[in-house]
Amino acid sequence: MTTEPALPDAAESRSADVGTDTGSEPNFRSPVSFVRRGSRLQGRRQQAWDELSDRFVIDVPRDEADTSVSPDYVFDAAAEFGRTAPLVVEIGSGLGEAVAHAAEQNPDKDFLAVEVYLPGLAQTLQRIGQKGLTNIRVVQANAPEVLSTMLPAGSVDEVWVFFPDPWHKTRHHKRRLVKDSFAELVARVLVPGGIWRLATDWSDYAVQMREVLDASALFRNLHDGERAGEDSPLTRVHREGLENKAPDDDVDARGGWAPRFEGRTLTSFENKAHEAGRLIFDLAYRRN
Ligand SMILES: C[S@@+](CC[C@H](N)C(=O)[O-])C[C@H]1O[C@@H](n2cnc3c(N)ncnc32)[C@H](O)[C@@H]1O
Repeated sequence: MTTEPALPDAAESRSADVGTDTGSEPNFRSPVSFVRRGSRLQGRRQQAWDELSDRFVIDVPRDEADTSVSPDYVFDAAAEFGRTAPLVVEIGSGLGEAVAHAAEQNPDKDFLAVEVYLPGLAQTLQRIGQKGLTNIRVVQANAPEVLSTMLPAGSVDEVWVFFPDPWHKTRHHKRRLVKDSFAELVARVLVPGGIWRLATDWSDYAVQMREVLDASALFRNLHDGERAGEDSPLTRVHREGLENKAPDDDVDARGGWAPRFEGRTLTSFENKAHEAGRLIFDLAYRRN
């Protein structure tokens, strides 16, 4: 039996790395949603990288930082995959569990995994090799740059953001990926009618996602008003005092939560959230 290597701890636990607005990448002009994590590869991950990176890793020209994308570079999915097919982009794909599973289940679609964490990408390559997948590519890059210039406008059928780093401390909320400016970038790449799927195991980030997207004229909540009141996972978090919060009587009258996305396999990351007694919040929005 092989043991699944874990993702690194949540980024904000590495307090030494988050003391400044520029994180540990000196050239970013605004706070980034990640910190530098180990980039050394060993064993099977190194082997997977050596054997598969030429074929499956998009070799993007860089700007300043090593996770940047030169603004002149534009991804050509048809040339890359050798066909025209619906494109799904997973942002922050971690160890690649979700995207590799989905690529295997949906051979008629193409998948792009976007991740800054090199060992996670190497692990994704391992999965690609094990499953013999051809409909997936990976890129080591900062997601906002991928969305703002690398991907052509209106070229993506679905964007997935599953369990983004929660950045719990209030002073770190500006690092959260899902905010107004990010929503505009996702809207840019989606085809009209394209879908943005999100999931998180932290209720206050779930509320932030819902606020940002419900307020956006670019998106429509596919489950507006659903799972409200006693059916809302947010009500349960309040009532049951989950996430180490004191129990309270707040009822989530608004709802808007999606059912669990059946195309998202249960990853080791999500499993840990279940084991810790946290609830999962799913959201799904359509690009207007
Ligand atoms: C908490 S992990 C979740 C990983 C995966 N989605 C899962 O459910 O197992 C969040 C991931 O997002 C990645 N990430 C954070 N900010 C990013 C960014 N700006 N661009 C690309 N990846 C990013 C992190 O490196 C990390 O692997």
